[in-house]
Amino acid sequence: MHTFKLFRRLAPYVKIKWNLTLIAYACTFLQLGLVMLQPLIFAYLIDHVLIEGNRDLIVPLLSLSLGIGVLSIVFLFIRVGLFRYLGICNMLDIRDELLKHVRQIPIPEIQKHGPGKFTALLGMDTATMGNFLNHILVEITSQLFMMLISLGILFYMDWRLGIVATLSIPFLLWVPGLFRNAVVRYSSDVRTHNEEIGAYLYEAIESSQEIRALGLEGWERKRNETMYKGLVKASTRETLYAVMSFQISGFVISLILAAIYWVGSYQVLHQMLTVGMMVASVTYLQNALNPVQQINNFFRELQGAEVAMGRIEQFIQTPIDLYSENERKQASPAREPQLEATPSDIEVSSLRVGYGGTEILKDLSLSLSPGKVYAFVGRSGAGKSTLFRALIGMMPVLEGEIRIGGQNLEEMTRSAISRKVGIVFQEPYLFRGTLMENIAVGKLDATEEMILQAALNARLGSLLDQLPEGLHTKIDHKGFQLSGGQRQRLAIARALLHNPDILILDEPTSALDQLTESELMNSIRHAMAGKTVLVATHRLQTIMNADRILVMENGCLVAEGDHEELMKQSPEYYAMASTFERDTSVAGQASHKEGVTA
Ligand SMILES: Nc1ncnc2c1ncn2[C@@H]1O[C@H](COP(=O)(O)OP(=O)(O)OP(=O)(O)O)[C@@H](O)[C@H]1O
Ligand SMILES: [Mg+2]
Repeated sequence: MHTFKLFRRLAPYVKIKWNLTLIAYACTFLQLGLVMLQPLIFAYLIDHVLIEGNRDLIVPLLSLSLGIGVLSIVFLFIRVGLFRYLGICNMLDIRDELLKHVRQIPIPEIQKHGPGKFTALLGMDTATMGNFLNHILVEITSQLFMMLISLGILFYMDWRLGIVATLSIPFLLWVPGLFRNAVVRYSSDVRTHNEEIGAYLYEAIESSQEIRALGLEGWERKRNETMYKGLVKASTRETLYAVMSFQISGFVISLILAAIYWVGSYQVLHQMLTVGMMVASVTYLQNALNPVQQINNFFRELQGAEVAMGRIEQFIQTPIDLYSENERKQASPAREPQLEATPSDIEVSSLRVGYGGTEILKDLSLSLSPGKVYAFVGRSGAGKSTLFRALIGMMPVLEGEIRIGGQNLEEMTRSAISRKVGIVFQEPYLFRGTLMENIAVGKLDATEEMILQAALNARLGSLLDQLPEGLHTKIDHKGFQLSGGQRQRLAIARALLHNPDILILDEPTSALDQLTESELMNSIRHAMAGKTVLVATHRLQTIMNADRILVMENGCLVAEGDHEELMKQSPEYYAMASTFERDTSVAGQASHKEGVTA
């Protein structure tokens, strides 16, 4: 019953096609009704043709049986096709809803669980829910229908047979019930093991490089063996209990049928019942009792559906982030006017940012104005990437305020933020497709010229010259055939194409040589003239070329100024300066200044 309550709560997320569902159910009942007429025709055939010798009835009775057979195949065909179609549609609907939700919950929530959970949720659980609606429910309803019709016919033929069948049903439900708890427990174990294995398999493929380079094959095999042992044990036990429960109810049905044959034969021998009617009554009794066995079998699948739907419901209840909430409140975000790019300043005051009880940014305030390049420096873990993620609304703000172009970030929608602020992450993600598709991704109105310009601004010219197909070169999963620096520049081109007011670059040049880096930063400066650029970097050249340097430590902004000022005033910056990556010319300059300061 819990399963049905769960389903009622999830029903609004599944767009049920009522017309087609009703047609499919009508075909199911018509088909089953026709199939159930057959034993009566054969009873008539035995009594009136075989026993009474009425040959004229052979052709009409067999034609009738054949006609019913053909018609029931037609109904079966429509029913199977429709339920298959509806099952897939329902699965895709719920998957669509879940994916929409994935796009709205806080990013740390996704990172915390990793892809394993979401692959199981979006793949397995949505498929189970589609299956519940268009297979399990249909089968249970069909079996119940067959059982009720057969009981009705049995009562009509002989009320005593009807009573025997009716009294057997609770017993047949009770016997396998003895094993049900064990079956349910082990089937839930099998599910958990499968999920765990799914997540590990995903990781196994993703970590192929590390596994081989570190020679971890043996460690991996041992880890897998432990996991597989659990699955094998649970799966074997589940199957054994399920088969036992099925076979025991089958055995009880055989006993009841044997008893009916015994009583029936006595009645036929004493001319109280015709042979045909005895054969028909045994068939109907079978038709009344077999569904009970089948329904028992479906309890296992129902349990699976309950677990899957429970997980779907739990996920749907995960609160969405503020910016998606703002988007929801807006009547029709799609019709929002396309804002012209305007220079925007950034004001951050007393900002505290954290997740899951950890405070990462602590009381951070800063003010950035358009037309400048700001370099953010700080030791690894200082909070640079966290600040950048907070500026695009991807980290929950605990306290304080972020204002972009005078507007409070918390009042902005997700789409408004992404139009205003462009970001290149520390590890950018590339999609399967061509270089051009990867640069233009999501920007459908971009012309080839615009895309090429963005690529050239990101200093991808020499790469494009080397490739015979240029921008149309295909790249595979995560752009694995590109170098780290090429991947970074591709992501920069993507951000530049969007022409944002503010461009955030999180260590965009870590994989580039000094010359390319210098050319790239100049090119970005040119393309973003009059706008705001924020760059986190450990490269001295980029730091020194910035208009202003902001020093972060332990989630706080500890100093601000240009290189020379900071070398004098900021012990943190001074301590870090010797670790900055430098080229020889800049190094000379820096060490000279360092010497002066020292
Ligand atoms: N979602 C999260 N939940 C909890 N802690 C986090 C989360 N994300 C980052 N942190 C922690 O916050 C701190 C700052 O991380 P962040 O990635 O912002 O540093 P960073 O300055 O960008 O470092 P790097 O130079 O290595 O990129 C780290 O100590 C990190 O462990
Ligand atoms: Mg970082």
